[in-house]
Amino acid sequence: MALRPIRRYGDPVLRKKAEPVQGVTDEIQTLIDDMVETMYDALGIGLAAPQIGVSLRVIVIDEGTRDSSGPKAFLNPLIVGQTGSLRGEEGCLSLPGVYGEVVRAEWVRVEALGRHGAPVRLEARGLLARVFQHELDHLDGMLFLDRLDKIQRDRIKRKIKREGLPESVPASALHL
Ligand code: NI
Repeated sequence: MALRPIRRYGDPVLRKKAEPVQGVTDEIQTLIDDMVETMYDALGIGLAAPQIGVSLRVIVIDEGTRDSSGPKAFLNPLIVGQTGSLRGEEGCLSLPGVYGEVVRAEWVRVEALGRHGAPVRLEARGLLARVFQHELDHLDGMLFLDRLDKIQRDRIKRKIKREGLPESVPASALHL
């Protein structure tokens, strides 16, 4: 396993639509292991492959709740159903030090392949639903910034222009 540098806001790979995974190869297993290690090292609870510069539809999640059973990887994930809406603060490992209130569906149904290629179907609500939606956005070249209202977005863009992005993030905040 290896830590991989996290790509930051402004890197074009974060704006590309990622390609589907075509086969569950050794390279994909290594990618997943590296993503998990990189996510934990950066104190994140979710990470999408484009965030380490790999434009493939792979995400890893460990939302760290009592009933989560460690890190999970999802290949080619899709949201096939959603209900409700919930406003909540989000941060992103690719936008360190920047937070905003994002409206997300409260509940989602996800279909994907697990790390060894078996079909997975699951339902998530609250925080976990938010993490899925944030990570799936990354696969389509979208950042949480794009989902903020214009006032928040402009304020954050001005802050980034003025101060740049910090090197590290506080452990207390939510990073996806
Ligand atoms: Ni993110």
